Amino acid sequence: MLQVFQQLQARVGMAMEKAFPEAAAAARASGQPLDPQLAPASKPEFGDVQANGALALAKPLQQKPRAIAEAIVAQLQADPDFTALCLEPQIAGPGFINLTVRPERLAAEVASRLGDPRLGVPEVAASAPVVVDFSSPNIAKEMHVGHLRSTIIGDSLARVLEFRGHPVLRLNHVGDWGTQFGMLITHLKQVAPEALNTADAVDLGDLVAFYRQAKARFDDDEAFQTTSREEVVKLQSGDPVSLKAWGLLCDQSRREFQKIYDRLDIRLSERGESFYNPYLAGVVADLQACGLLVTDDGAGCVFLEGVSGKDGKPLPLIVQKSDGGFNYATTDLAAIRYRFGAAPEGDGARRVIYVTDAGQASHFAGVFQVARRAGWIPEGGRLEHVPFGLVQGEDGKKLKTRAGDTVRLRDLLDEAVERAEADLRRRLQEEERTEDEAFIQHVASTVGLAAVKYADLSQNRITNYQFSFDRMLALQGNTAPYLLYAVVRIAGIARKGGELGAAFSAASSADALQFSEPQEWALVRELLKFDAVIAEVEEELLPNRLCTYLFELSQVFNRFYDQVPVLKADGPARSSRLALCRLTADTLKLGLGLLGIPTLERM
Ligand code: ARG
Repeated sequence: MLQVFQQLQARVGMAMEKAFPEAAAAARASGQPLDPQLAPASKPEFGDVQANGALALAKPLQQKPRAIAEAIVAQLQADPDFTALCLEPQIAGPGFINLTVRPERLAAEVASRLGDPRLGVPEVAASAPVVVDFSSPNIAKEMHVGHLRSTIIGDSLARVLEFRGHPVLRLNHVGDWGTQFGMLITHLKQVAPEALNTADAVDLGDLVAFYRQAKARFDDDEAFQTTSREEVVKLQSGDPVSLKAWGLLCDQSRREFQKIYDRLDIRLSERGESFYNPYLAGVVADLQACGLLVTDDGAGCVFLEGVSGKDGKPLPLIVQKSDGGFNYATTDLAAIRYRFGAAPEGDGARRVIYVTDAGQASHFAGVFQVARRAGWIPEGGRLEHVPFGLVQGEDGKKLKTRAGDTVRLRDLLDEAVERAEADLRRRLQEEERTEDEAFIQHVASTVGLAAVKYADLSQNRITNYQFSFDRMLALQGNTAPYLLYAVVRIAGIARKGGELGAAFSAASSADALQFSEPQEWALVRELLKFDAVIAEVEEELLPNRLCTYLFELSQVFNRFYDQVPVLKADGPARSSRLALCRLTADTLKLGLGLLGIPTLERM
């Protein structure tokens, strides 16, 4: 209903102008034109939209807000474009104006969505690319649940942006460069040299273990530290033997990551830290040239504005270590410069989004500030960190296996699917249904993976989230199974003779749609919110808003379907109700699709 909302915005704005021309002119002159202050109605009995602008005028006009509201309403009633859109406005409380969209207009909105694959969501005109930097695990370390969160949230944001028509670069900024390779290569040379020149000589689990050993040695063996640092320098300056070893190690991790992405249906282009190696020296030179670089204790750094340490002195962002090496921040600066830079030596992006745990917030704040001061962000360019909280076990502590180890993603996904399968078999037995193995496997894996994704997406991402298989697989509540079940229920209506398709085209003119029951209108109004929800997710990058909407839509639908006869109705009432069923299914399918969750016809 975004369009209706915009029209109302214009009509109420115009009515305010006409009612109070002097105040409007003064407001415009001061650079703050009168604002109708439209908001969705807080309760259904208040209509659809509330205009609160009268209250703010009370002071400058020295009049009672109710009198102001009356004057605005008088203008609205004299405006044929307004009366074609809304019923007579009602003034409530001190001076709120409640607006109710005409039922025939709502029906027309529904009709225009029937058979529209975009369900009323406008497509943006050609735009510059949007970068979504997500997932981004580290080579030779296993992907952990934090990376799973980044992967799931980042994918969903990318899907929403793509659906809106933005060209999206889904970039996997893998940690494939830096000290960890120095340690790993040094250690492997001694304990498993074959891993450095033969593909798959050791398996990934071993590699992870070797990495852990190398890290332990690095932390308390000075000679090992020195050799490791020399090893990094060798690699970064292109030594062929080191490069070969590095390539083998990366390949092996990459294949393992890919298995997770395939399972979750995630597309990503790998562009790891190593990609920016050739640009690092340029970044430092640029910072030097624009006068931001300061040498402190032998290290190249930029002092941050407005960020100070415990001693009250400004904190530095180190971009070149005293041994000449570059770090994570240097790479991120190079990445920003490249992403906003013009093609072919850049992506030409206008919006760059980073999906990582909240623990990296100050890293990004520092890097963004330096990039801005260095002038690498074009006019209107947006840099956004999308932080998320920790994944915790049901005990509220960091998620661990019973043995106290970090949980492997593969095991976590397997367990979700196994539990979904057990639930399904139990239900089939209770309902005395027999289904073949292929059906059971398909449903179990769809439900299991959907549950994991949805549990993550439906939380406000900023907060920590407690991982619970029982909760995420429940058939009731704000869960994937509940939403998938709503879609299945509607598919069942079609199977029971509802012929949604035919009813759909018969109903796809506004005159053919007839609604009379409050449950129908509630569903109509809920369905028409979809476009605004998508716009909100695109802006605020909060997938949980979409989840909440889909959950509410399912609830409103279930109430409608439980209380209003559909298949037993006849004539236009029947086809109108079937049309609502179909539009609900289409909205749920599209919405879940944007969360990366495929739906089922039966479960
Ligand atoms: N590899 C990093 C980690 O595991 C995440 C990278 C995020 N992206 C970035 N451009 N810094 O924490």
